[in-house]
Amino acid sequence: MKVLVTGAAGFIGSHVSMYLLERGDEVVGLDNLNDYYDPTLKDARLERINALPGADKFRFVKMSVEDREGMETLFAEEKFDKVVHLAAQAGVRYSIENPHAYIDSNIVGFMNILEGCRHNAVKHLVYASSSSVYGANESMPFAVEDNVDHPMSLYAASKKANELMAHTYSNLYNLPTTGLRFFTVYGPWGRPDMALFLFTKAILEDEPIKVFNHGNHRRDFTYIDDIVEGIISTLDNTAQADPNWTGEKPNPGSSKVPWKVYNIGAQTPVHLLTYIETLENALGKKAEKELLPLQPGDVPDTFADVEALVNDTGYRPTTTIETGINNFVQWYRDYYKV
Ligand SMILES: NC(=O)c1ccc[n+]([C@@H]2O[C@H](COP(=O)([O-])OP(=O)(O)OC[C@H]3O[C@@H](n4cnc5c(N)ncnc54)[C@H](O)[C@@H]3O)[C@@H](O)[C@H]2O)c1
Repeated sequence: MKVLVTGAAGFIGSHVSMYLLERGDEVVGLDNLNDYYDPTLKDARLERINALPGADKFRFVKMSVEDREGMETLFAEEKFDKVVHLAAQAGVRYSIENPHAYIDSNIVGFMNILEGCRHNAVKHLVYASSSSVYGANESMPFAVEDNVDHPMSLYAASKKANELMAHTYSNLYNLPTTGLRFFTVYGPWGRPDMALFLFTKAILEDEPIKVFNHGNHRRDFTYIDDIVEGIISTLDNTAQADPNWTGEKPNPGSSKVPWKVYNIGAQTPVHLLTYIETLENALGKKAEKELLPLQPGDVPDTFADVEALVNDTGYRPTTTIETGINNFVQWYRDYYKV
């Protein structure tokens, strides 16, 4: 199978590329290697992919997904069987600082992916959505059957827009599409702009950590290997129309066309202060906490209902934060030599 993985130098994309190569698939990895965070980490992830025994089946393409002509040519030349689209401008807080980046990468870029799939008979498009689409919802756990019309940030709106755009292509061109709502992903090779990375760095450097919402968040932190398993099990399970779907009582989580959305989350919301305590144990060092208010665009709690994923693929995330955080700390110490 020949798979396009966008965002291949990113946190999740690099792990997915490695998984596919290890099982013998051919991977074209695309990324624009932008400097939203330290690009040397992106280069190091690519080096890691290229060091795999199966790396002869990997080709890296440096390109932006919003490059319309470039994307048209790439799709026409490569004729991918399937696409895993993970390239995006990520981050809730940065969407307040630089909103245009979200329209360029997440909306224009997604449009080019849909067109590429449509014109080149791609058999399944799997793309990253986000738990942030649940926005102002407070009914827990969040289920794909819930209405998600109240995003709290432009980032969330761009992900919800992707789900809607995908639906139109599943309808008009019978393109099977699956949107995956990831819940706060963490683990080795993780993102420097995310809490676990920032906390670890600050604690090791004897700096205070910024604890938003005075630590009263509950987050469904999800380990990277569980996310990868979830992506692969949905990639292998091409989206199908739901025979029980009816327009009289429309279920927001499926459709009469081959369109699906799933949550991938640990189903164990953890209090932020507990998460920090687990990190302190893994590091053998206490954090100095600076307690701050809830950030604009952030939501206080997340909790995934994964029944739709389990019913359709049989897969359920299971990694505990103790295991996950220990693995992260081991990687961090090793990579940064601290
Ligand atoms: N990490 C999480 O907690 C989380 C949660 C929910 C959803 N997601 C989504 O999962 C996907 C992957 O996230 P990640 O954590 O690996 O982030 P990441 O930033 O590490 O990876 C994204 C990669 O895409 C590349 N990229 C960004 N814009 C691009 C563009 N316009 N053209 C080409 N390449 C571009 C970046 O250089 C980066 O390497 C994203 O779509 C993100 O929104 C992540």
